[in-house]
Amino acid sequence: MKFNKLTNKHIDKLISIVGIKYVHQSKQKRVEYGSDETEDFSFPPEIVLLPKTKEEVSEIMKLAYEFNLPVTPMGARTGLSGGALSIYGGIGLSMERFNKIIKIDEDNLQVIVQPGVITEVLQNECKAKGLYYAPDPASRGTCFIGGNLAENSGGPRAVKYGVTKDFVLNLEVVLPNGDVIETGANTLKNSTGYNLTQLMVGSEGTLGIITKAVLKLLPYPKQNLLMLVPFKSATKACEAVSAIFKAGITPSALEFMERDAIVWTIDFLNEKSIKIEDDVAAQLLIEVDGNNAEVLFKDCEIIAEVVDKFEAGEILFAESEAQKDALWFIRRRVGEAVKSNSIYKEEDTVVPRFELANLLKGVKKIGEKYGFTSVCYGHAGDGNLHINIIKGKLSDAAWKNELPKGIREIFELTVALGGTLSGEHGIGYVQKNYMDIAFSNVELDLMKAIKKAFDSKGILNPGKIFE
Ligand code: LAC
Ligand code: ZN
Repeated sequence: MKFNKLTNKHIDKLISIVGIKYVHQSKQKRVEYGSDETEDFSFPPEIVLLPKTKEEVSEIMKLAYEFNLPVTPMGARTGLSGGALSIYGGIGLSMERFNKIIKIDEDNLQVIVQPGVITEVLQNECKAKGLYYAPDPASRGTCFIGGNLAENSGGPRAVKYGVTKDFVLNLEVVLPNGDVIETGANTLKNSTGYNLTQLMVGSEGTLGIITKAVLKLLPYPKQNLLMLVPFKSATKACEAVSAIFKAGITPSALEFMERDAIVWTIDFLNEKSIKIEDDVAAQLLIEVDGNNAEVLFKDCEIIAEVVDKFEAGEILFAESEAQKDALWFIRRRVGEAVKSNSIYKEEDTVVPRFELANLLKGVKKIGEKYGFTSVCYGHAGDGNLHINIIKGKLSDAAWKNELPKGIREIFELTVALGGTLSGEHGIGYVQKNYMDIAFSNVELDLMKAIKKAFDSKGILNPGKIFE
């Protein structure tokens, strides 16, 4: 790819657009903005810009477009597929100053929000008005709405409420050439033309820069119950998942954690309140929510009957809000605990729910063949398994040369089971070499043609999804 390096002339112009205070050029800052939560990659941009308005973003893009400068949009850089890495240098465009909730529209149950708002902040502001924004990635305390939109993030509640895309009504977007568009309308229904809104969601910052979003809200569910269910067999735990839905229950979360996932996290957090028995191989964390406590108790009874058929052990029902928080705190920190434990790679496979047990068994078998262990956990109700491949005793050479073959086999298995490469983390920088497993050349060429229609020079977030 032929991009230009930034010259002093470009830099002067960029400073005049955003103001010197909002330009970072020091090595320290560039390195800081050169990484996200994906493994230990470091791709510093040549300059970091912190614009405040869509007009500024538009001016920046016009300049970048004219002079062929690569631009990498950035949110909170909590991503797990390297989407915010400036792999060709150029301009790092941080959206952190787009941090306003513009309007919570209680009449229409909508919120107009800027992309740099932290997801949990948005959730809390909505909750204060009795409204619910359901998507809740594990990183919700730090990640931005803009990043959630870019990656189509999910999280535990997606199983009942849907992922980010299901909450997006309309977007304001700056295109790579600096044009500003609106993708849809602030309506719940829309059959008007191509669905540019949904095309933008999950496009990983490669088609445009989201500067404003109109999101759907729901009434806040008033009650929830949470239980932790142990199993002696991880396969049985996976098998119980689809049986719960078949029994007529849609939990508001149905999370799977292998033994190591939960034990490592308990150790990492030094959390003494939860004890895992020696013979437990996996746990399901199951939540139901709604407005009627009696109905929820009944749901839990049905779930208990179902899991019993899969040889579940003694169920822990969270007795207090504090205990619920402790359980969720452990679940949300699994990724971090694994990261602190070993060099690892995280895959974000997703299969039709019923195939979860087959996926897990297959992953372990592939691990035996290539000599790696894995710690698996994730959103079992969605068939979404986070596979953390642990470097452990693997040699550097095997990690570098052999492991990609093993990962390829994992993805081939996933696709053979009717699934695909990523459920919620995106393809970004790290999975792009596996896209041929999920898509034919015809399909990939269509996607590349779409990219070209938006970004004829390929300057926006280059090197992501595909080359
Ligand atoms: C989680 C993140 C890694 O589910 O997606 O914890
Ligand atoms: Zn997840």
